[in-house]
Amino acid sequence: MSAGKSFWEMDELRLISGAMVILSGATALLVVMPYLLLERVQPPAGLKPYTTEQLAGRQSYIANGCVYCHSQQPRDIKQAPDATRGWGRASVAGDYAYDTPHLLGTMRTGPDLLNIGARQPSKDWQLGHLYQPRAYTPGSIMPPYPYLFEVRQGAAQAGEAVVNLPPSFAKPGEVVIAKPEALALVAYLLSLDRTYPALAPLPAPTTGASAVGKDRP
Ligand code: HEC
Repeated sequence: MSAGKSFWEMDELRLISGAMVILSGATALLVVMPYLLLERVQPPAGLKPYTTEQLAGRQSYIANGCVYCHSQQPRDIKQAPDATRGWGRASVAGDYAYDTPHLLGTMRTGPDLLNIGARQPSKDWQLGHLYQPRAYTPGSIMPPYPYLFEVRQGAAQAGEAVVNLPPSFAKPGEVVIAKPEALALVAYLLSLDRTYPALAPLPAPTTGASAVGKDRP
């Protein structure tokens, strides 16, 4: 710093103050604003907290990399035709109130799964599909997860969860038994159901009916 220079002629001060302005702007946009927006988000009335088994299944969903092929964020009709694909309404912040970490995903090699529990509520189907996706969707490129099951010749023992494969796929004399990890994963998949209304309904209008903003609080 040579003597006689004004503030704006001092390069290092300009650099530091410029950096501080950009950093505080970025902090306001990326940290403070999202915090203020999401601070008061409540879990919707229709959303239940996960059970211990469902949470274990969620861990297995993460460990098995399901999130690399499946998103959990149906989009608005303006962004993607997800509603017409049967994937459900556009998700809202409250839908993820119990999700830590969230599993929004970015890849959609397979369908969005935020509402798979409503779309495919059959436990047998879910177990069999994890054991061998091609038994249900010919030519499926989803990997099978045989290590979540035990295949045995003969009969199952009492209390074991036998997977009912489609008759064309089942091998005579062989039983496929779901391990607890498979059962937990399916319990988690079946809990994925955000088909309740996204926003609380308005009280009935007292004056002239207007359709605009009807479903907004
Ligand atoms: C390599 C990508 C890939 C991975 C990894 C993957 N899937 Fe899939 N998944 C697909 C594809 C493609 C389909 C559609 C074809 C089918 O039904 O098999 C699908 C379909 C599904 C469906 C049926 C969806 C519907 O709408 O009918 C479920 C449920 C599912 N996957 C669950 C899982 C779970 C749980 C895991 C992790 C254990 C997983 N997937 C891992 C690609 C993948």
